[in-house]
Amino acid sequence: MSDTATAMSNKNAGDDQPPAKQAKVTAAPANDANDAAMPDIRVAIVGVGNCAKSLVEGVQYYVENPHDQVGLMYPDIGGYTAKHLKFVVGFDIDERKCGRSLAEALRAKPNCAMDHVPEITETSVPAAARVHRGPTLDGIAPHMTQYPVDTTFKESGDKPVTLDEATEILQREKVDVVINYLPVGSHEASAFYVDAAVRARCHFVNCIPTFISTKEAKALEQRFIDAGLTIVGSDMRSAWGASRVSEVLQGAMLDSGLMVTQHIQMNMAAGTTQGHETQRTGRTANTDFLNMAKQDRLHSKHVSKENVLKGQNVVRDTSTAGMTLFAGPSLTVQQKPGGTYLGSDNKVANFDIVAYGFGGARYELTARLSVQDSPNSGGVVVSAIRFCKVAAELGIVGFLRGASAWTQKTPPLQMRTGDAKFECDALSRRQLTDLTRAQLKENTPVADTLPYTFQSDTLDYE
Ligand SMILES: NC(=O)c1ccc[n+]([C@@H]2O[C@H](COP(=O)([O-])OP(=O)(O)OC[C@H]3O[C@@H](n4cnc5c(N)ncnc54)[C@H](O)[C@@H]3O)[C@@H](O)[C@H]2O)c1
Repeated sequence: MSDTATAMSNKNAGDDQPPAKQAKVTAAPANDANDAAMPDIRVAIVGVGNCAKSLVEGVQYYVENPHDQVGLMYPDIGGYTAKHLKFVVGFDIDERKCGRSLAEALRAKPNCAMDHVPEITETSVPAAARVHRGPTLDGIAPHMTQYPVDTTFKESGDKPVTLDEATEILQREKVDVVINYLPVGSHEASAFYVDAAVRARCHFVNCIPTFISTKEAKALEQRFIDAGLTIVGSDMRSAWGASRVSEVLQGAMLDSGLMVTQHIQMNMAAGTTQGHETQRTGRTANTDFLNMAKQDRLHSKHVSKENVLKGQNVVRDTSTAGMTLFAGPSLTVQQKPGGTYLGSDNKVANFDIVAYGFGGARYELTARLSVQDSPNSGGVVVSAIRFCKVAAELGIVGFLRGASAWTQKTPPLQMRTGDAKFECDALSRRQLTDLTRAQLKENTPVADTLPYTFQSDTLDYE
């Protein structure tokens, strides 16, 4: 195994060791000589949890191992590579993270995602990058206080920053892009950081299921258009996660003329297939899954996940009425009291699909996908940040429809997989398309007249 492969340690990942990487090593970006001329993209992280840890460490890994591009969908977006991403500031509410350096906070409990580098260095996180105490608002669900402290959030007693102070910090740190990594259900807290980002003139990547109804998304988009900013959202999907698998299967079956009558996607953290491991090691879910262990907290995620499936029908003008459709975080096996917490970022998705085809013949498809949850999300956010910056340089404002459809579960406009990729490919080459041309600032776009897939913020059976 090469040095680069051994550098990618995986000490928390149990059996899920990465395969030998030597067979997959590809060439460094063609424009390696030119990319030093590009400016850095300065990023603020809201919610210094597992996804943030994976993103930052993954970026450092790719900078330090430029000949390994495995896992990067876009090594180069408009001239920007991993080396241009600098994580300059964080906001959190946990006493183990607030007031610390960003590098220290990323490795603090309850974060449990795998390590991609031996230590977080100044490669992508300047030494001066700090984590500020943000307002808690609805960031911590009441049930989260009932878990052992190493597995859950621990609220800091420090005074939270005000909106003016958060805005001033973003301006002072010259932040280009704000990433929202708050827990699911953080609607008020998300609104706070949207306000700060718009006031500080920062682009925004909304990785969580907030502002997902068409009505909310349009209002949000108009604010970013008015401020001359770009936004990617909402609710990130992973590079190769349950959403991508469901979307591709659903789309391919419909395109093959089948009638899909059932599509169930069950997601588990330390679920049935991990039961014995849980008993032996005390492993449990990451905080994302613990947060969603209560129905009221996971509602927006549930809606957003089902939007992925419905979207593939909507873009083909095929009704989902009468279809058994379920996609959601459905099971979180909690740690028994007294166990030693090791943490697990492992997520298992089971798919159960029924369809009818030629002459009424029945098809049944079951599949199982086991992933490391947080690195999987880093694989799309590393692109979303650069799409925001490149689109802004091209003069585009508002939601990036292609990049959102490719990287998020509830984009403003659902697309066929290939169409979303086409839009991203064009943006990565700094080329406009019919969709993005309509959103040039000079064309004074209005959210109400831009294309949207209708989405409510409730489930079909509510
Ligand atoms: N593959 C994935 O992991 C994936 C995919 C899609 C979406 N998401 C979403 O991304 C978000 C982040 O996921 P994660 O696994 O990093 O979660 P996490 O629980 O590890 O991190 C959340 C962080 O937010 C902090 N926080 C809570 N309230 C806050 C507030 N008011 N202000 C600032 N910080 C606050 C917590 O202390 C914690 O550090 C979640 O909403 C998750 O559902 C994750």
